Amino acid sequence: MCGIVGVLGKGPVAEQLVDALKRLEYRGYDSAGVATVENGHLGRRRAEGKLRNLEQRLKSSPLYGDTGIGHTRWATHGKPVEANAHPHMTDQVSVVHNGIIENFRALKEELIAEGAEFTSDTDTEVIAHLITRELKAGSDPVRAVYHTLKRLEGAFALAMIFRGYDDLMIVARQGSPLAIGYGDGEMFVGSDAIALAPFTDAIAYLEDGDWAVLTRNGVAIRDRNGKAVERPVTRSQATAFVVDKGNHRHFMAKEIYEQPEVIGHTLAAYVDLAANRIDMPALPFDFANVHRLSLSACGTAFYACLVAKYWFERWARLPVDVDIASEFRYRETALDEGGAALFVSQSGETADTLATLRYCRAQGQHIVSVVNVQESSIARESDAVLPTLAGPEIGVASTKAFTCQLTVLACLAIAAGKARGVIGPALEAELVQALAEVPRHMATVLRDERPYETLAHGLSKARDVLYLGRGSSYPMALEGALKLKEISYIHAEGYAAGELKHGPIALIDEKMPVIVIAPRDDLFEKTVSNMQEVAARGGQIVLVSDADPASTGCAISTHLAVPPVHRFVTPLVYAVPIQLIAYHTAVFMGTDVDQPRNLAKSVTVE
Ligand code: G6P
Repeated sequence: MCGIVGVLGKGPVAEQLVDALKRLEYRGYDSAGVATVENGHLGRRRAEGKLRNLEQRLKSSPLYGDTGIGHTRWATHGKPVEANAHPHMTDQVSVVHNGIIENFRALKEELIAEGAEFTSDTDTEVIAHLITRELKAGSDPVRAVYHTLKRLEGAFALAMIFRGYDDLMIVARQGSPLAIGYGDGEMFVGSDAIALAPFTDAIAYLEDGDWAVLTRNGVAIRDRNGKAVERPVTRSQATAFVVDKGNHRHFMAKEIYEQPEVIGHTLAAYVDLAANRIDMPALPFDFANVHRLSLSACGTAFYACLVAKYWFERWARLPVDVDIASEFRYRETALDEGGAALFVSQSGETADTLATLRYCRAQGQHIVSVVNVQESSIARESDAVLPTLAGPEIGVASTKAFTCQLTVLACLAIAAGKARGVIGPALEAELVQALAEVPRHMATVLRDERPYETLAHGLSKARDVLYLGRGSSYPMALEGALKLKEISYIHAEGYAAGELKHGPIALIDEKMPVIVIAPRDDLFEKTVSNMQEVAARGGQIVLVSDADPASTGCAISTHLAVPPVHRFVTPLVYAVPIQLIAYHTAVFMGTDVDQPRNLAKSVTVE
């Protein structure tokens, strides 16, 4: 993940900026840079690779400004070279940015047509040029940023400084976190409180859509509608060594909220967003020659594999077997020599998954793993590792690791589709664009938790809950039920909607909540028929969908609205509502959300 820092200081800030960036090193980065305002002029130093290269650069060519911004970059648009490192700037403004600007191509064309000269491949540089255009038209920096933000689509965090303004920094948050630190005659910003720990423990977190104007004497925060707002200042517990909860009550909530950012980060490792193409690392086999792919995992990671089966079959026409690792390892499965076996695991240490991997190796399979812990046993024993870049996941119930697993698997399915001649350049660009939009859609779902809080009251009284879905929403129904039972201890089951009539319909009465995951796709009408079967028996339907509930013709007790998204990415976006349903129900019931009874984060026993 990229890191952002900013300081309005009492003296030269370059050293403070680099110190703060060092505390964000754990997020991973490939280049770094700082910029300051010095006697009204903007100065910038950048370097590829580690922060010590930037320090070296600053030593030979110091910056003396008292106001500055800094950034560690994890390449998304364009290669990890100095020209693409942040800050990006014109002579008027300097910008650092986390996240993805989805509409940067259209904006870049517009700016180039007007004569703007770009010096990088990044999406970020359009922001600097848009602001510059506004400034040249006579706007002050605040107005220039206000107008520019309205043009940007995506999930992002920004910090900006301006020529001629020694006591001004403007920041914005739209889906990627940003913290403001209060000092005594100094102000700070950071992509998390850990970056700011040496400077201050008085921290306010911007909310989604907020943007803020900082001077040394304080900050004025506005929401997305331009209304002045206050955000509570809390005492942060963060130190460089403690992963803290930010302003969330639980790690699980923090991890749910991190998803737009970590998905963007994971995507950046497998996709060239500037070219709208997949860019996978080399694999030990060619998908064109693979007859069957075996996927294996446990728990939530198993459900990620089940979703992937729909993707590989639909978009790559590749036959896929999915198995629970504890079953696979003893099933004595017949495997073709030279076949491909893929293992998915957050921890990379799950005993059953590791044993299955070893079985597949003994059967002459090519071993690929999707893991969140790169030093883990599963990673070490694989021929190729495709890391999820979710960062440490503390909550026992997996959330951001799951959606990052889905992100990697979606990219892999596109790569397979290309290799097998199913996906051509136009479809590849369409699917990659759909993935690039996922962080923004997730951020939209996260904007209003009130419907989930209300629903939690009702669900908390239920003895059993049924989840239904079709197509790739079927494994999401399974994952929804797992999340709910894991942390609220309410019995829940997921079913393929079409299976309802073959058994579970016997359970339905007016006390039974039925959560239906039904994006408006080509299976929607089929799922509506199943909802009608539930409604006819008095079941309480909770509809998770982008569709108008009235269009179902059923009595819907709760509609959890999701924005319309490309059918390819529905599992990623619909993961957020099912996580929020479980989270709020558990919070309402007062269970130990982060460490539910009897469960372990990493299961290293059989
Ligand atoms: C445990 C965790 C689950 C996880 C499963 C597989 O049961 O509580 O959240 O999905 O193990 O773990 P892994 O680390 O292999 O993804």
